[in-house]
Amino acid sequence: MNKDYRTGVTQFLLDHAASNPVSFHMPGHKGSDFYRRNGYGLFLERLMDCDITEIQGADNLFVCADCLGESADKYKKIYDVCKTYLQINGTSGGIIASILATVPAGGKLLMSRNCHKSVYNALKLGGISPAYVYPTLVDSYGISGPVSPEDVAAGFDANPDAAAFILPSPNYYGICSDIKAIAEVCHERGKVLIVDQAHGAHLKLMEHYAKDGAINLNLPMSAETAGADLIINSTHKTLASFTQSAVLNVNSDRVDLIELEDKLQMIESSSPSYILMGSLDVNANIILDKGEAVFTDWANNVAYFYSEAANISGLKTMDVPGYLDCTKINLDMSAYGLDGAALEKLLIDEGIFVELTTGNLLMCMTGIGNTREDFDKLLNSLKRIASTHQLVESEPGEADVLETVWNKKRHVHQIGGGWSLETLDECEGKVCAGSIIPYPPGIPLICPGETVDLDDIEYLNQLISKGRDVIGVDANKKIRINKK
Ligand SMILES: Cc1ncc(COP(=O)(O)O)c(C=O)c1O
Repeated sequence: MNKDYRTGVTQFLLDHAASNPVSFHMPGHKGSDFYRRNGYGLFLERLMDCDITEIQGADNLFVCADCLGESADKYKKIYDVCKTYLQINGTSGGIIASILATVPAGGKLLMSRNCHKSVYNALKLGGISPAYVYPTLVDSYGISGPVSPEDVAAGFDANPDAAAFILPSPNYYGICSDIKAIAEVCHERGKVLIVDQAHGAHLKLMEHYAKDGAINLNLPMSAETAGADLIINSTHKTLASFTQSAVLNVNSDRVDLIELEDKLQMIESSSPSYILMGSLDVNANIILDKGEAVFTDWANNVAYFYSEAANISGLKTMDVPGYLDCTKINLDMSAYGLDGAALEKLLIDEGIFVELTTGNLLMCMTGIGNTREDFDKLLNSLKRIASTHQLVESEPGEADVLETVWNKKRHVHQIGGGWSLETLDECEGKVCAGSIIPYPPGIPLICPGETVDLDDIEYLNQLISKGRDVIGVDANKKIRINKK
């Protein structure tokens, strides 16, 4: 290794790249090969030279009248929507801007409780109060499932002053909701529907090629087709633009674009990266020019994986029929006494890196850049693991039960008047003053004003002991507690 790279993150990045890892995590491009094999190697070679600012002819993200406007229009065509805004602050930025543009300051937002932290941050920025709709539960794993349209209707009936509804679909595990029915519920009541489709930027494209008969994965309908008003897609998570880029799609005339543009310029950097925006353009070009081949290959590889995986004894793959974006492969090898975290360790030993583990599940996030070779490596590793481990009695694991803490309905107390740092283990029954956010998935487990229960403490201890990052719990395992 060159001595210039002896410390810090560059050393980690270069060492990691040199080990030729197999990626089943974000970003979707999975490394430089995808650009090279699709004819965009020059962009990578000249990357530093593409790192410019708003010089003459380069357009302006917040005006978008020229070359950036052309790139945005490619997405408008790809997603068949009224307008697309390129995002350089991820789906997070698009979510915050969408909420601030549609819910008045001090107003109310109806939201699914399993929303990403960016939604909670928008509440803080806009002085907005939440009213929660709780997702259904996938019983076998204790994780959040679809949000039911009836619950959204009941949520609006109880909170007629809420201006909009937001939910993630797909959620982190790939579980979608019936967005078409939820859109009807919202629109009948004159409310705006915002869909955080961070994990489903590919759904519209897969749907497009499925119509031609080229793909048959039976994926849920995209939020664009289902009629949501604002949809934010992390094109970096499953498609081929660089990390932190995304697109915000406007899909109806229910949103005031002047308000939206005002909030976007407020949230995003005034020095937007041309490298990110260039990668958004490359991603759009690949979709427009080679979409059929690329999406068919991806879908075929996913279908191939499931059919081969079905022959590995003791391996289960999670399904939520009709609701699952199965490009996210949720593996369960608890039959061998391996929970998700233990399975992850074994895969890392084989050079395979995954996106998320939760209880008995391990989620492999496939993307546009995964090759058949990647899927074969994963299959071979799983076969090896199955052949070197003993099947055990399959009682539901402790982890499964603990996951249900996510779906608890929590009373929210008024807080204010300061906070103090207290040891997590001594906080049972106390009111949290901060947000406790396990990462991933980046969803607040406990929000400011919510009580810390014994099962929360047990669950957080379990995550911490497994080395998971938990935002809001400091290095001494202290959290912010409201002063009475
Ligand atoms: C459900 C969900 N929504 C939104 C986001 C934020 O997306 P981004 O990383 O593009 O800002 C994430 C990030 O992982 C997420 O999981």
